[in-house]
Amino acid sequence: MSASKKLKLGVLASGGGTNLQSIIDQCQQQQIDAEIVLVLCNNPGAGALDRAEKAGLPNTCINHRDFEAREAFDEAVVAALQEAGVELVVLAGFMRIISEVFVAAFPNRIINIHPALLPSFPGLHVQKKAIEYGARFSGCTVHFVDTGVDTGPIIMQAVVPILDEDTEDSLAARILQQEHKIYPRAIQLIAEDRIKIDGRRVRIDDSVDAEAALINPPL
Ligand code: GRF
Repeated sequence: MSASKKLKLGVLASGGGTNLQSIIDQCQQQQIDAEIVLVLCNNPGAGALDRAEKAGLPNTCINHRDFEAREAFDEAVVAALQEAGVELVVLAGFMRIISEVFVAAFPNRIINIHPALLPSFPGLHVQKKAIEYGARFSGCTVHFVDTGVDTGPIIMQAVVPILDEDTEDSLAARILQQEHKIYPRAIQLIAEDRIKIDGRRVRIDDSVDAEAALINPPL
């Protein structure tokens, strides 16, 4: 890690927060040039709040049920993120659709992780959908967030095989292992300013193994 200024992250979560944990760990171990300045949950029971407390991180719950309109909830979230000085918004299992108000406040500064290989299988229950479709591979995708559902430009993906014996849970667990690797890595690429958005394409200043291929079943 360089001695450069740390990128200030606001992490938004609704559930257990294992992706949050992997980002906490990599920040603490100084493997990424970032610091979490706010953990924000929309759900008072979110395990992510316990993880934030345990790590001594600023955290807050803004309950979406207290707001009549999606925009009013988003305005409150944006105000909290701005107040904390957040530079990059990291959605980590945040189960709310983001409105125009939110996207406009952080242009190209909101990222999400999705447990499928976008543009295949956007939305919910995607591990089950990938198995039922008969796909031989699934994986996870880190992408910029726009006002669509899982439609923004793709930053990074990891691919895992789908096995004959897979259940929704076993596939989700295999994908989650990769999520915990690629999400901190994508944050680091942004912290190092190595990412440029070119229309739908994200250009990354990095080396790539052009011969790399995964084949399932193997040759
Ligand atoms: C992950 O599968 C992520 O891809 C999706 O929501 C899940 C969050 O899991 N967006 P966790 O709360 O980080 O454990």
